[in-house]
Amino acid sequence: MSQAVRAERASEGREGAPVTVIGLGLMGSALARALVRSGAATTVWNRTPGKADDLAGEGAQVAASLAAAVAASPLLIVCVRDNDTVRELLEPVRETLAGKVLVNLTSLSSAEAREMVGWAAERGATYLDGAIMMTPPGIGTPEAVIFYGGSAEAFEEHAATLRVLGGGTEFLGTDAGIPSLYDVALLGVMWGTFNSFLHATALVGTENIPAVEFVPYITNWLGAVTSFMPTYAAQIDRREFRAVDATLETQLPPIRHLVAESRVRGIDATTPEYIQRLVEAAVAKGHALDSYGRIIDELR
Ligand SMILES: NC(=O)c1ccc[n+]([C@@H]2O[C@H](COP(=O)([O-])OP(=O)(O)OC[C@H]3O[C@@H](n4cnc5c(N)ncnc54)[C@H](OP(=O)(O)O)[C@@H]3O)[C@@H](O)[C@H]2O)c1
Repeated sequence: MSQAVRAERASEGREGAPVTVIGLGLMGSALARALVRSGAATTVWNRTPGKADDLAGEGAQVAASLAAAVAASPLLIVCVRDNDTVRELLEPVRETLAGKVLVNLTSLSSAEAREMVGWAAERGATYLDGAIMMTPPGIGTPEAVIFYGGSAEAFEEHAATLRVLGGGTEFLGTDAGIPSLYDVALLGVMWGTFNSFLHATALVGTENIPAVEFVPYITNWLGAVTSFMPTYAAQIDRREFRAVDATLETQLPPIRHLVAESRVRGIDATTPEYIQRLVEAAVAKGHALDSYGRIIDELR
């Protein structure tokens, strides 16, 4: 949106609430662009100034300094490399943070997020932590999931602006550490699934079956696999693991076949060996007739 259009919207009272985006890397730029396009009065700042040029052309206000960027809006969204950078960056402008809502969309640990609540409070600011489950091109789409935790009042006050960044915006509660925990837990599912996909592809590849030919069977199978998860989840919560599909005892021989096939075909067997170890341990403890959900006890 051009500055002229923004000015027109402002004069008509259609301008969105003011917001400042600090950090214009790949993600920060995508966040700022979505806000500008929504009509929000968006101020941006980045350590390396050139990265604001495109956004300026689209209607963002480029702050001359970090202090000016902080002063421009009650809502500050920061998205930089890591949380140490957030703290080092904002410390010199700490006097200007009082009364602001600080939304930290930088990836950090749950412990760091919890510390940031007090860090912000000491500087008079209210803290919201956010975890983005999307890559920059998907920011602003209905599919973009962003988890928030921290001040409920701050989330409520700025929900309309934050929802611009992703249709899957969700407030997880007042514990600021939860969004980053969800983040890594879900990323673990992603990497684990990628590794299984790659392992399966390497396995069938030993028979010269192309990956593109096999991948539809994987994606279809994943649908069936995920359909078991709600049942296991309920069993985990109830601590009752009656097998309604296949017992651990039944699954053990094919798990051993997977290990053997991997070894014979020269494919890394670490992942199937780990599965075998977990299941054998559960069976040895007398859980042979339980469902796969029982394996949670081996992880805890
Ligand atoms: N990209 C994704 O798909 C994705 C998804 C979810 C979450 N995230 C998270 O979003 C955050 C930013 O990621 P990104 O992809 O935008 O990374 P990026 O493209 O590498 O951008 C890094 C940003 O951090 C700034 N920065 C680094 N060190 C700094 C310092 N010492 N002082 C001031 N600014 C500094 C950079 O400023 P300069 O331009 O001056 O170097 C730049 O604005 C990370 O925490 C990342 O984990 C990213």
